[in-house]
Amino acid sequence: MRLVRRIAQAKRIVERTQKRELAIGLVPTMGYLHEGHLSLVRIARKKCDFLIVSIFVNPTQFGPKEDFRRYPRDLRRDLRLLKMEGVDLVFYPSVREMYPAGYRTYVEVHEWSRLLCGASRPTHFRGVTTVVLKLFNILAPDIAVFGRKDYQQAVIIGKMVKDLNLRIRVITGPIVREKDGLAMSSRNKYLNARERKNALVLGESLKWVRQAYKRGLRDPQAGILRMNRMIKGKGGRIDYIEMVDKNTLEPVRKLKKGTLVALAVFFGKTRLIDNTIL
Ligand code: PAF
Repeated sequence: MRLVRRIAQAKRIVERTQKRELAIGLVPTMGYLHEGHLSLVRIARKKCDFLIVSIFVNPTQFGPKEDFRRYPRDLRRDLRLLKMEGVDLVFYPSVREMYPAGYRTYVEVHEWSRLLCGASRPTHFRGVTTVVLKLFNILAPDIAVFGRKDYQQAVIIGKMVKDLNLRIRVITGPIVREKDGLAMSSRNKYLNARERKNALVLGESLKWVRQAYKRGLRDPQAGILRMNRMIKGKGGRIDYIEMVDKNTLEPVRKLKKGTLVALAVFFGKTRLIDNTIL
């Protein structure tokens, strides 16, 4: 497994790989890897000949008051884990090279980037699509794998790929949960013991809505109200709970098969997201 920091060097390796007609797979990450990331790496490993994982804590997707500086990082451990998964190349660029002084170009999937998480994080998805497009241009993958925990992110990236006519197959992998049901996230590390325990209500509320739907619940507002109560009862500060179409992210009037139930909730200062599809 090679560790490459410079864009030019990564491009050279990619060109050589393309000449050998090997299918390139990419799993973009911000590092501090957990089983959720590794599950995506395993999906990609099976679908390509040459597997690249990028590790880059992307400053443009963090708001000015967000956790860019304190976002957890552990390159050594990440490299050890990726080596065990049979990754061919780890791309670990610097902020200075990805966004040199005078950098001005951003790509945005209009409107969708302001829905759900985008309402309280208005520049977040613009940062995500910009960095992902840069990674796509540098690493020229045939396939790229993203997690469904960041469901909106995956939908937005899929839309960018379609709208910009990129020849990349976007694949999504399922949410990976801890044994007690908490969705895996690098940010879980910020939670203290009480917050960690209370945060289990997120998975429980999503389980409740799945069961309630099976029993006949069709009114999204009634579902949201009940989930709201459950989560507030455990001290969660709700950013949003929404029930939307899984392809267009538009709110639904009636729950049906395929409705996305997505939420973002603060426990203490930590903002967690989770979702389920009915
Ligand atoms: O999901 C993430 O970790 C990031 O948003 C991504 C896709 C690596 C872009 O920085």
